[in-house]
Amino acid sequence: EAADKGEYRHFMLKEIYEQPTVIQATIDGRITGDKINLQSFGPNAEELFAKVKNIQIVACGTSYHAGLVARYWLEALIGIPCQVEVASEFRYRRVAVQPDTLFLSISQSGETADTLAALRNAFSETYPSGNYLGSLAICNNPTSSLVRESDFTLLTKAGPEIGVASTKAFTTQLTALLLLTIALGKAQKTLEAEAETTLIRELRRLPSRIDEVLASNKTIEKLAEHFIEKHHALFLGRGAQYPVAMEGALKLKEISYIHAESYPAGELKHGPLALVDANMPVITVAPNNDLVEKLKSNLQEVRAREGELFIFADEDVEIKEAAFIHVVNIPHIHDVLSPILYTIPLQLLSYYVAILKGTDVDQPRNLAKSVTVE
Ligand code: G6P
Repeated sequence: EAADKGEYRHFMLKEIYEQPTVIQATIDGRITGDKINLQSFGPNAEELFAKVKNIQIVACGTSYHAGLVARYWLEALIGIPCQVEVASEFRYRRVAVQPDTLFLSISQSGETADTLAALRNAFSETYPSGNYLGSLAICNNPTSSLVRESDFTLLTKAGPEIGVASTKAFTTQLTALLLLTIALGKAQKTLEAEAETTLIRELRRLPSRIDEVLASNKTIEKLAEHFIEKHHALFLGRGAQYPVAMEGALKLKEISYIHAESYPAGELKHGPLALVDANMPVITVAPNNDLVEKLKSNLQEVRAREGELFIFADEDVEIKEAAFIHVVNIPHIHDVLSPILYTIPLQLLSYYVAILKGTDVDQPRNLAKSVTVE
């Protein structure tokens, strides 16, 4: 087992560092030059993609967060309405299904009981949720039940993920979801050729951007010291960074056992602000997009209540370091891809906090890698 971890102390750290390579592997074969390769999605995929008018995403845990990010992409980039739901809820309710809806499941293992049950129910005659156009699974395990039972599969190439807290599976799911968005947009002629080229070029640059963020590990390790005595943490994000904040909070909970919550930054004053004081660190991701000015005013509200701020910000965003305001610069990236890049520092932060707390990073208490029973 030690050999498999190579030079790394834990599988989780190894898997965090594998992300540039496995993201590249997930892109490989799906693009030709600066264009998406529609044929690579399967012989009849182009025909199916052209018909899709709505998407229902179903998943659990970290995979659910990937689905939430995808919703922003599908609606903003190519105008396809999208609903996202945790499988454990979806499977037990009768769903009103729009015509020409694609059922999209996301799962690392392809064996999660609730996700499988949601797929089976959606297509069963005795318990129909509606008439779906077809099913597509985004999955990391080519021989899984989910892949076998879905009409189409888009494989993530993360390789075996051993750490219970998902890292590389998540960022490869996001990569696959962005490729899918581009493919759908191309099949439906709703994504301009220029936008396709730009996004593919940015995807090709993503692995090296991630390498740059991984090089900030020492800074992030130092920040982790501020969390040793803390019992709670609040993660804030806006837009597609809100699910990134959710995933950051989940990682901290899973491996450091610190209670963490995530909020869309605009909801701060509708409740969580009441909890903010010197004992409530607030972690936030601030890429340089249209919402950054609004985010800055949220941050002032936190400081006014003595909350300590940890900000992961685009190198061009002017947020100054000060007492109790810690800023980590993230290399500039195209806004669409920022959820993938900003996930990385949050993974590292959780990892280093867990190390300092001495928890079992790869096998956190009470959790399983794959939840195959209800
Ligand atoms: C468990 C794992 C999580 C994972 C979730 C969904 O809770 O600990 O890391 O995100 O299951 O698993 P799946 O294999 O369906 O992505």
